[in-house]
Amino acid sequence: MNMECLLPDTIPDSPAFHTVAVTTVRHWNDHLFSFSVERPGSFRFRSGEFVMLGLPQDGGKPLLRAYSIASPAWADELDFLSIKVPGGPLTSRLKSVRPGDQLYLGRKPTGTLVADALLGGKRLFLLSTGTGLAPFLSIARDPEIYSRFEQVVVVHSVRRVSDLAYHDQQTALWADDPLIHEEAAVQFYYVPTVTREPFHTTERIGTLVENGGLFPNTLDGPRRFDPEQDRIMLCGSMAMIRETSAMLEKLGFVEGSNSRPGTYVIERAFVD
Ligand SMILES: Cc1cc2nc3c(=O)[nH]c(=O)nc-3n(C[C@H](O)[C@H](O)[C@H](O)COP(=O)(O)OP(=O)(O)OC[C@H]3O[C@@H](n4cnc5c(N)ncnc54)[C@H](O)[C@@H]3O)c2cc1C
Ligand SMILES: NC(=O)c1ccc[n+]([C@@H]2O[C@H](COP(=O)([O-])OP(=O)(O)OC[C@H]3O[C@@H](n4cnc5c(N)ncnc54)[C@H](OP(=O)(O)O)[C@@H]3O)[C@@H](O)[C@H]2O)c1
Repeated sequence: MNMECLLPDTIPDSPAFHTVAVTTVRHWNDHLFSFSVERPGSFRFRSGEFVMLGLPQDGGKPLLRAYSIASPAWADELDFLSIKVPGGPLTSRLKSVRPGDQLYLGRKPTGTLVADALLGGKRLFLLSTGTGLAPFLSIARDPEIYSRFEQVVVVHSVRRVSDLAYHDQQTALWADDPLIHEEAAVQFYYVPTVTREPFHTTERIGTLVENGGLFPNTLDGPRRFDPEQDRIMLCGSMAMIRETSAMLEKLGFVEGSNSRPGTYVIERAFVD
């Protein structure tokens, strides 16, 4: 037993879930951390999807929550980016995981933040707040996305500088990534914004659309959204999704789904 966090060293098998071992853990700050787990041989998913993840609890039924997979579909391990909710049923325990600890992993990943739910286009904008970055870490590291789109722009809005998970890797245009560093060097753009601490960019996403700050100078095309050539994914708080969706609909964007691809797609990063 891992006494510090009351996590069991091994967990009982469950037919509905894989049992996977944690391989690495990184704490970004007091309310945000990343971890990776081994990938079961039979586990397939599309970049951008989420899966149920959890721990055993008293009474036998696993305690599970939805988690976006933050690594791309080709990766050997599955990465996750997690909030630590004070008193949260899962994360108040999950925040203490260490390499070797075991977790439950659902067998059926799903979700709408997938390239299949978007029509073809030139520029792909991945707009996130908080842990909503997670699915975009998956998509932006998938080689296929650079074949489908000429330019890929990740926008990450957070309260504090230390909330900018993967800031260094994205600023370096994924230079250490063996599979996509060549494409990313010319096709990847990263727009971080920090709204409650001094930073070079401090506006919310909506303001950055209005003032043009969301469109890097070296990006091709207009410094505004264009439904003809732009495709957009949104992941974050419900308020951000609601407000940004309303703006996109006014501009003529149409929400897509797996069965009916459109020009933008949404997924909430958590349930309020
Ligand atoms: C489709 C989907 C994908 C998700 N992907 C992720 C992910 O990749 N990473 C992640 O950390 N969470 C993600 N979540 C949220 C996750 O399922 C849990 O809510 C979270 O792990 C907290 O679990 P908990 O049991 O500790 O608290 P809960 O009882 O689940 O949540 C308590 C409260 O904490 C707040 N909260 C929960 N999650 C977040 C969050 N991520 N950011 C800000 N506030 C939050 C909400 O106000 C919520 O009501 C996702 C949720 C959905 C629906
Ligand atoms: N991040 C922290 O430092 C911190 C610390 C302790 C506890 N928490 C708790 O953790 C939870 C999640 O916090 P979080 O920081 O991950 O998420 P968050 O509060 O949703 O903030 C993330 C980013 O989204 C922006 N945002 C919020 N509403 C928006 C909207 N309607 N349109 C566009 N952008 C919007 C925020 O800007 P604004 O800053 O302008 O709102 C911020 O840049 C909260 O319950 C919070 O109380 C967070």
